[in-house]
Amino acid sequence: MPNDVKPRGMLLKPLLTELLALKGHPLEIFEAGCLRDWTEHGAVNDGHSTLYIAQWVAENPGSHRFVSAEIVPTHITTCSDFLKEQGIKPPEFFHGPAEEHLASRREPVDFAFLDTADDPQVTMGQFQALEPLLRFPAITVIDDVYDMIAIYGVDINKGRLAVPYAESKGWGVEKLDRMAVMRKGQT
Ligand SMILES: C[S@@+](CC[C@H](N)C(=O)[O-])C[C@H]1O[C@@H](n2cnc3c(N)ncnc32)[C@H](O)[C@@H]1O
Repeated sequence: MPNDVKPRGMLLKPLLTELLALKGHPLEIFEAGCLRDWTEHGAVNDGHSTLYIAQWVAENPGSHRFVSAEIVPTHITTCSDFLKEQGIKPPEFFHGPAEEHLASRREPVDFAFLDTADDPQVTMGQFQALEPLLRFPAITVIDDVYDMIAIYGVDINKGRLAVPYAESKGWGVEKLDRMAVMRKGQT
């Protein structure tokens, strides 16, 4: 991995630890949009979320389940190969739109990381598909919400619709780097 890659995904590990301590049972973890080849345009700014979540799963005993949904097959292969090179077991991959996986999913979700298209409507659709599956207390993190003009010159904000919607539904929202960390059911 190049030295200039900022491992933003590392910030997810303490959140998983926080949720595990609160719940006291294995976590159902869901990711939308997996780690891709960092040589692609823009990918050096990615957070390598899949690596750090899978690392957390390996470091924390228990039958945690980690599913990552991704639409580009080569991204799944790259991600899977990269994790194996690092000696880390890859997640269970769903090849297809995250919203499609969520619509047919039976298992609950404790922790979700949403990081797919730049279109806020897509993230909103995923968050709404996630809602009936959530097992509270729950944490949902949306990437690329804050500081995007400074980073890319355009205000991408993947959470433009989902963050205010979540707030209206009683979620607490905290800025962490460029991510929105949303918690519900903690007290
Ligand atoms: C920014 S990258 C993800 C980066 C990764 N989470 C990380 O931290 O390194 C976004 C990914 O989402 C995928 N994607 C876009 N729309 C999607 C959708 N509706 N469902 C699943 N994956 C999607 C893209 O193919 C791409 O691989």
